[in-house]
Amino acid sequence: MARNEGNAKKRSVTLHVVSSLDGFIAKKDNSVSWMDSPGSVYEAGVSISEEEIATFIKAIDCYVLGSRTYEHALELGWPYGDTPVVVVSGREWPPASSRKTVEFYSGDLKTLVDVKLAPRYRNIWLVGGAMLCQRFLELGLVDEIRLTIAPVLLGEGLRLFGGLLKEERWNLKNVVAYRNGFVELSYSAFSTSTC
Ligand SMILES: NC(=O)c1ccc[n+]([C@@H]2O[C@H](COP(=O)([O-])OP(=O)(O)OC[C@H]3O[C@@H](n4cnc5c(N)ncnc54)[C@H](OP(=O)(O)O)[C@@H]3O)[C@@H](O)[C@H]2O)c1
Repeated sequence: MARNEGNAKKRSVTLHVVSSLDGFIAKKDNSVSWMDSPGSVYEAGVSISEEEIATFIKAIDCYVLGSRTYEHALELGWPYGDTPVVVVSGREWPPASSRKTVEFYSGDLKTLVDVKLAPRYRNIWLVGGAMLCQRFLELGLVDEIRLTIAPVLLGEGLRLFGGLLKEERWNLKNVVAYRNGFVELSYSAFSTSTC
């Protein structure tokens, strides 16, 4: 079935991650200082206020993440506020390990999106990690890719697109260069935008 075919839903799945210039989304030691802002380095770039960020984040209805990303988020400090979060995992999780806004899901990912999420949420953000993003892409479940490119080469680490994805064209929708040297690239799925 083609992407979105037979699904009158208005839901949209956005894959969003921060990548290094050389395509890594995590270092081997899991440290995240490479994502720190280097300050104002690109005068022609845009800067966004805290209020604009808050408004933007408020529009996200639900986050979906893999269990390793979940565990890392717990270690780093919860970045998802009170927005509902679905953690994909085949493991059993003790109830005490879960926040109120978190639910765990195990099973078919298309069912997750079309049956469990689409009736409840419109703006669904898939925020990592590499394993789960690749699986969503393989299954044609991503409508938009938003890559934020950090101005750094890492040399090694976890590749976002390290799996066996097949060739697929995406439409460039937007490019935003930020004053701190980060660049956000937004693409929509070819089949979705040509419908
Ligand atoms: N730079 C960024 O923007 C960014 C964003 C997100 C994450 N990260 C980093 O990426 C790393 C984690 O990524 P990762 O690729 O190692 O792991 P991940 O995708 O976060 O999680 C992988 C786990 O998700 C579960 N899973 C994935 N696909 C599944 C499926 N089809 N069915 C059932 N369960 C499934 C499995 O959990 P179980 O083993 O529990 O069954 C699997 O072990 C961390 O270092 C994190 O900090 C970076």
